[in-house]
Formats: sequence, C-alpha cells, structure tokens
Amino acid sequence: AIDIEKLRAATGAITLDPGYKNSGSCQSEITFLDGEEGILRYRGYAIEDLADKANFLEVSYLVIFGELPTAKQLAQFETDIHKYTLVNEEMKNIIDGFPKTAHPMGVLASLTSALTAFNPKVVNVENEKEMYEAVCKTMGKFLVLATWTYRKSSGFPLNYYDNTKGYVENFMRLMFELPTGPYKINPVVVNALDKLFILHADHEQNCSTSTVRMVGSSHAGLFASISAGVSALWGPLHGGANQAVLEMLEEIQKDGGDADKFLAKAKDKNDPFRLMGFGHRVYKNFDPRAKIIKKAADEVLAELGVNDPILNIAKKLEESALQDEYFKSRNLYPNVDFYSGIIYRALGIPTDMFTVLFAIGRLPGWIAQWKEMRVNKEPIGRPRQVYTGYPLRPFKEMDAR
Ligand code: ACO
Repeated sequence: AIDIEKLRAATGAITLDPGYKNSGSCQSEITFLDGEEGILRYRGYAIEDLADKANFLEVSYLVIFGELPTAKQLAQFETDIHKYTLVNEEMKNIIDGFPKTAHPMGVLASLTSALTAFNPKVVNVENEKEMYEAVCKTMGKFLVLATWTYRKSSGFPLNYYDNTKGYVENFMRLMFELPTGPYKINPVVVNALDKLFILHADHEQNCSTSTVRMVGSSHAGLFASISAGVSALWGPLHGGANQAVLEMLEEIQKDGGDADKFLAKAKDKNDPFRLMGFGHRVYKNFDPRAKIIKKAADEVLAELGVNDPILNIAKKLEESALQDEYFKSRNLYPNVDFYSGIIYRALGIPTDMFTVLFAIGRLPGWIAQWKEMRVNKEPIGRPRQVYTGYPLRPFKEMDAR
C-alpha cells in the first residue's frame, strides 16, 4: 500500500487546495469582490454606478490604467484604438483554413495567438508608451477578429472597422452589416451590450484571468497569454456557461417544456445534469451583475417586443429554482450567464457566439491583470502538488510486463 503520509512528509509542507477555493495567487488593486455581500467594484467604483453612468471604453480605461479617463483621455483612447483596428490581410489565410463548422472560441484563440506572429515585438512593460500602444492594439484587433469568427461560420465576407462609429456600435456592424447595404444600429441594443461588456470587464482571479496571469508569468507575450485566457473561458463551467444555458433551455423546450422536470434532474445526485447559469464559486448570496443584467434583460425584451417560448421557460426555471429548498440551501442563484444568454438570444446573436461576447467584455480585465502581474514583477506561477502515485519501483523488463 502507498503510505501517503510518508510521501507527504517527503514533499515538505504543502497547502493542498484543489481548485484554489481558498488560496490567493497574488495581490491586486484592480477588482474588489465580496461574495458574501454580493459586492463588485473596479478600482473602487461600484459596478452599479459604472454600468449606469459609464461606457465600456471608459470602464476599460479605468480597469487597465487605474483611473476614470477625462473626456480628452477617453477621446484619445478611442482614436488610438481605431488606429489599430486594421488586421494584417494575411490573417485571412488562417481564417480560410478553418472549417465553417469550427467553434468561434477555438478560432478566436487561434487568431489571437497568430497575432503574435504578425506582431513579434514583445512589449516592454516598463515603458508606458509601449504598454499603452499594446493595450490599444489588443483592444482594436481582438474586437475585429472576434467578429470575423462569426463572419467565417456564416459565410459572409469579412467586415472592416468604421472609425466614425463607437466600439460597441462597430461590434454590431462588424457582425451583421452586409455588402447589400448599411446596418441600422439600434441604440437600445448597443446600450444593453455596452452594459453587458462592462459587467464582464473584470472579475479578479477567475479561471481565465488566472490563466492569463499564469501564462504571462513565464514572460510569454500579451497576445499569447490572452489566447490562453480565451481557451480557459471557453469551458461550460466558466464563460461557456452562457452558451450552455441556451442549449439547456432548447433541450427543455424539445422535451416538452417542463422546467420542473429538469429542476428535479439537477437535484438528483445520480444525474450529472446541472442547471446551467446557476451557482457561483464566489457569490454565495447573489451575483450583483445578475441583478443589473436582469433589469436590462427585461428592458430589452420589452423594447424589442420579443415573445420567445424559450425565454418563458427561462422565467419558469428561474422562479422555481429560487423557491426550491435544494437551491436555496446551497445558495445557488442565477448568475450573470443566465441572463446574458437570454439577452444575446433576443439580440439575434448566434448561440455559439455567446462566449465570444464574454471574451470581448473580459478583454480589458485580462490586459489589466497581465500588466499588473508584470509591473509588480511577480514570480513565475508554479504550484506544487502532493504526490499520490507509486513509491520507487524496480524497472520491469519488457518481457515481464
Ligand atoms: N445545478 C445543480 N446543483 C449545483 C449547481 C447547479 N448549477 N451548482 C452547484 N450545485 C451543487 C453541487 O452539486 C454541490 O452539491 P452538494 O453540496 O450536495 O454536493 C453544491 O451545489 C456546491 O457545488 P460545487 O460544485 O462545490 O460549487 P463550485 O463552487 O465548485 O462550483 C460552479 C461553482 C462551477 C459555478 C457551479 O455552480 C456550476 O457548475 N454551475 C453551472 C455552470 C455555470 O453556470 N457556470 C458559470 C459560472 S459564472 C461565470 O463563469 C461568469
């Protein structure tokens, strides 16, 4: 038998905390989160105020550089991002190589990584001007590439950024404008998306952000680190949950629309099914972002006059779960992904693009955290483990195996 205690002793004193449920990996000045009280602040500003009073680029500037921009700084930031929205035409060859059916998150991770090849200069984090340019470049190119993943899968020609329009307006244009005529931008939609991006802008040491910091801690470049963050975000237990929510609602609809049946499945410990969009590692009372976005979801649905049976199932599920003892006793509330999926669907965003929208929103957080980690000269991330395998074994010759 393996003597775990002996092995443990040989490894030395190690804190074993799978999933890092109670281990801090860094000190950070960016985001404050109190899961018990449901508080989220960027650089000291309440998420409620930011979602209500600021726009996405303003919040991005705050998250990345630490202060809310003046009107002049914000205008300059927008102009500087515009400068970098052109993507090397050769990137199109890479896009052409993907099958149309490729998941946009896989394509986005690859394209972000490919940016390294077209922009090989590694940014010097000590140089403020260089860092500022890298920020603008990343914000500009990532948005365009994110929308190109959709244009590829839909078979439409790729669009280019229009410098006379705002960042979020451009997102809608880049996604949906066709060569047959200009795309009419609905301000209600832009406002809802702007809010969603703000709510996603940072969330301290979540899985994808920790990944960005971890990869960057080896001094890998910004694009390479962000590409890794995109991959981490893709999973259904993280950013992929917004897609998983809609797929679950569709499954319930196909099955006859009985939300309570699926609620029972989620409670059954012999059934691996989980209610997607419910629960959170850190928020154990409520998700403050979900509160804001629920209101926005109601407004968007009313404004656009959407009447979608899928959304009725979502409402029923939400109501039943909120009253259910299993969910109540485990503090499982709808999280931001539950409502964001609903809004994206109402806006006509294809389901497999949902997590890409999350990535666009999270980008300033990834950049800010990468920058902070490098500026603070953090050591390479390298956790230890408790070995539970065999003790030393005599080598077994081939004919004895
Ligand atoms: N449906 C049913 N039961 C659940 C759910 C759920 N969505 N979430 C947690 N539980 C149960 C667990 O089975 C466990 O029950 P037990 O105590 O009887 O064993 C208990 O609640 C605690 O769950 P854990 O898995 O220990 O909680 P953890 O903090 O590890 O997981 C997570 C959090 C991953 C978000 C989880 O709640 C989940 O899988 N939710 C669904 C996926 C989702 O919505 N992810 C999005 C997260 S938000 C974001 O990334 C922006």
